[in-house]
Amino acid sequence: MSEKNGPIGVFDSGYGGLTVFKEIVKQLPEYDYLYLGDNARVPYGTRSFETVYKYTWECVQHLFEKGCKLVILACNTASAKALRSIQQNNIPNLPDFRRVLGVIRPTAEIVGELTKTRKVGILATQGTISSESYVLEIGKFFPDIDVVQEACPMWVPLVENNEFNSNGADYFIQKNLNNILEKVSDIDTLILACTHYPLLLGKIKQYLPGNVQVVSQGGLVAASLKDYMVRHPEIERLCSKGGISEFYTTESTESFNEKAAIFLGHQVFSKHLALH
Ligand code: DGL
Repeated sequence: MSEKNGPIGVFDSGYGGLTVFKEIVKQLPEYDYLYLGDNARVPYGTRSFETVYKYTWECVQHLFEKGCKLVILACNTASAKALRSIQQNNIPNLPDFRRVLGVIRPTAEIVGELTKTRKVGILATQGTISSESYVLEIGKFFPDIDVVQEACPMWVPLVENNEFNSNGADYFIQKNLNNILEKVSDIDTLILACTHYPLLLGKIKQYLPGNVQVVSQGGLVAASLKDYMVRHPEIERLCSKGGISEFYTTESTESFNEKAAIFLGHQVFSKHLALH
C-alpha cells in the first residue's frame, strides 16, 4: 500500500464546486488541494444515472492518479448519482487506500437543527431531485421533517454562462421559488442543494419572504470535513500539508481562469486535463 501523501481532491461538473472549495480552504487552510472541474461535460444535472456515474468515476480516477487519497465530490448531482456506486463497486477494488466523500450527507445531518416548522425545501438539479437522495437522507436523521423538492434546471446554465446577475435570472428564480413555496405552507428553510446556486443567493433572497432562511452548503461541508479529519487520523495523515491549491479543467483554461476568479475573488491559473 502506497503511503505517500497527496492533496485533497475537490471535484465538480463545473464551477459550482468552487463555492464548497472556498469554504473548505477557509476552514482547513493547512492542506494542499487539487480542484477539478469537468467543464467540458457540464451540466451533469440533466444526465442519466449511468452517464453521471461514468463521468464522475473517470474524473475521480484522474484525481487519484494525481496523488489524491481523499476526494470530495463537491457536486450534489455526482453525490446523488455516483457516490454510492463508487464507494461500493470501485473503491474496494483499488490496490491503494482511497476515500471519496459527498456533500449530501453532511447537509442532511444538520437540517434538523435549522428548521423550526419541520418543513424544508430542497432546490436542486433535476438529477438530484429525481434521485430522492435528500428525502431519503434527511428521513434517516429526522423522520419528522417534511421534505419538499423543486428542480431548477435553468439555474446552473445561468451561473455557468455568467448570467447570474442578469435580468433573465430573475424570471427563473422567482418562478422556482414560487413553485416550491406553493407546494406546502410553512416552509422555513430552503437548502441550496446544488453547489452552483450560492452565486444566485442575492437574487434568491430578494424573492423570499423574511421568515424563510436560505442555506448554502459550503460552510456545512467544510465543518463536516474538519470533523471527519479528527475522527479519521489514518486518512488525515495521507493528506499533504503545504497550503497549495491547484486547479484543473477539462475545458479551456482561459475561460476557467476568468470564471473561477468570480467565484473565488482572486486570480487562478488552471491547467488543462485531457480526458482519457
Ligand atoms: N454543481 C452541481 C450540483 O451541485 C450541478 C451542476 C450540473 O448540473 O452539472 O448538483
